[in-house]
Amino acid sequence: MQIIREPAPLRDAVRDLRDAGKRIALVPTMGALHAGHIALVEEGLRRADAVVTSIFVNPKQFGPNEDLDRYPRRERADALLLEKANTTILWAPGVEVMYPDGFATNVSVSGVSEVLDGAARPGHFDGVATVVLKLLNQIRPDVALFGEKDWQQLAVVRRMATDLALDVEIAGVPTVRDDQGLALSSRNAYLDEDELARARTLPRALGEACAAIGKGEPVAGALAAAVARLAEAGFDPIDYVSLRDAETLAPIETLGARPARLLAAARMGNARLIDNLPVTISASPGK
Ligand code: PAF
Repeated sequence: MQIIREPAPLRDAVRDLRDAGKRIALVPTMGALHAGHIALVEEGLRRADAVVTSIFVNPKQFGPNEDLDRYPRRERADALLLEKANTTILWAPGVEVMYPDGFATNVSVSGVSEVLDGAARPGHFDGVATVVLKLLNQIRPDVALFGEKDWQQLAVVRRMATDLALDVEIAGVPTVRDDQGLALSSRNAYLDEDELARARTLPRALGEACAAIGKGEPVAGALAAAVARLAEAGFDPIDYVSLRDAETLAPIETLGARPARLLAAARMGNARLIDNLPVTISASPGK
């Protein structure tokens, strides 16, 4: 695995891969890697011949009172994991490489960026869209892979790729969970043992709400029950538990023909956790 920190050697390495006829996958990350990230690399290797994984803790997607300073950084351990997973190139630019003096561009995807996490974290998705577009331009991959845990991020990136006619396939990869269902996240490192145990209420509450809605129970009641369960487990604040159109993220009151997704964000101790699940109409028994 090559570790590259400057744009010129990156350009050369990517050109060499292209000249050798290789399909290239991009896995953008902020490091502090876990099995969810490795699943992205593995999927990248199934879909392409070479994987470029980026590690860049992107200051533009953190709000002023968020966790930029304490976001876990462990590049050496990450590099070992990526090497073992057969990543071809680790792209690890510094802030001055991604945002040199005078950097003045902001990419803003309206609509899908403005709700849910976009409302709770103003400017967050502008930061994500800006850095992802820059990474896509630096690597020019055939496919870029994003975890479904960040469902809204995936929706924003897909919207941007469609709107700007980007010549790249945006692929979502299913969320990797621990043995009790908690979605793996670099921010789980902020939880102590007791908080970790209580955080596992999040996927359970979402699963129960999905099942209830799928059986035809009223959406409002199912969402209220999930919020109550999260509050009882000690989540505070609960930013949202919301049923949305899976693509546009418009609110949904009853399930219809279009795919639906239940999304939630809530704080446990020092960690703001997000999760989401698909919601489907369950067949009635006997039919
Ligand atoms: O999902 C993440 O880790 C980040 O939001 C991303 C896509 C790497 C952009 O900084």
